[in-house]
Amino acid sequence: MKTLKKLACTAASLAIAFTISGCSSLDSITGGKRIIRISHAQSESHPEHQGLLKFKEVIESQLGDKYEVQIFPNELLGAAQKAIELCQTGAIDFVVAGTANVETFEDSYEIFSMPYLFTSPEAYHEVMNDAEYMEKLYESTDQSGFRVMTWFDAGVRSFYSTKKIETPDDLKGQKIRVQQSPASVAMVKAFGAAASPMAFGEVYTAIQQGVIQGAENNELALTNNKHGEVAKYYSYTNHQMIPDVLIGNTKFLDSLSPEEYDIFMDAAQQATQLELDEWEEAAAEATDYAKNTQKVEFIEVDIEKFRDKVIGVQQEMIDNNPKITEMYEHIQKVNEEYENKEDAE
Ligand code: GCU
Repeated sequence: MKTLKKLACTAASLAIAFTISGCSSLDSITGGKRIIRISHAQSESHPEHQGLLKFKEVIESQLGDKYEVQIFPNELLGAAQKAIELCQTGAIDFVVAGTANVETFEDSYEIFSMPYLFTSPEAYHEVMNDAEYMEKLYESTDQSGFRVMTWFDAGVRSFYSTKKIETPDDLKGQKIRVQQSPASVAMVKAFGAAASPMAFGEVYTAIQQGVIQGAENNELALTNNKHGEVAKYYSYTNHQMIPDVLIGNTKFLDSLSPEEYDIFMDAAQQATQLELDEWEEAAAEATDYAKNTQKVEFIEVDIEKFRDKVIGVQQEMIDNNPKITEMYEHIQKVNEEYENKEDAE
């Protein structure tokens, strides 16, 4: 852990040095090759890292004489928001982050933090896999210096804590970490808990030291990020499905020839495919490990009770940010399609 932290500091200082010196990744040419840096928050065994290895493989197999792709896992180049800023300035070229972290750059992304937005993982996948529909949103940050290229599944989010959560009342008096997302803060408050926004990498220590009682995430957070060592109750509230996105620096993407751009886009699509293929098994393995080795208790709750508590947040969010209305309605339609399909079966 200590070594990791040291590494993180060194890497973060390096990254800061890039920014301060005004030296962008565009200047990173080594041995005649342009170095492409990608930052993400997960460990090397996470499906996203595997997806990014595919991204690297596709690019280097076709453009290897020109580009070398370097992947920096574990927030080594900084936590999500910092990493997005580095990508925005061009100090790094790509970053994978949850859309919750993009909200402060473009508030249309708040839509994904809406509690109980998607009514099934199938509807969620259908919406996210519709690249043509997503394009408008993905390009909405072009002016801010970055653009989303594709998405990665980040599962279904539920609460986990050092204290048992069986009903919404159990959240009262608990301090729960959320992503640095205004919408998620509002959601956790509506659930009746105190929200503590912080970077992903700080959660383990915060739970361990009792600064917070719990957090909310998919099952992989228990194992890949070791949160199951310190929080022993995971309650299936299933309150959000927040995608991660692969973000690229706009200037860099615009500097590519049309042929190169197509290769990068194809690499991104292949990375998504691989990540999606691996997700379910990874989540099942994480659950198994958390249950049997970390001794985390998994709790089935009455989801309707949790849903009732926060469903009003949906309308509040639309009233405060009418930009998300169109997408909200689109998602409702897809939800209904899948609900009808299920009823017919
Ligand atoms: C998930 C997600 C990350 C996100 C993290 C968090 O692990 O994949 O992108 O940063 O949750 O809660 O911060």
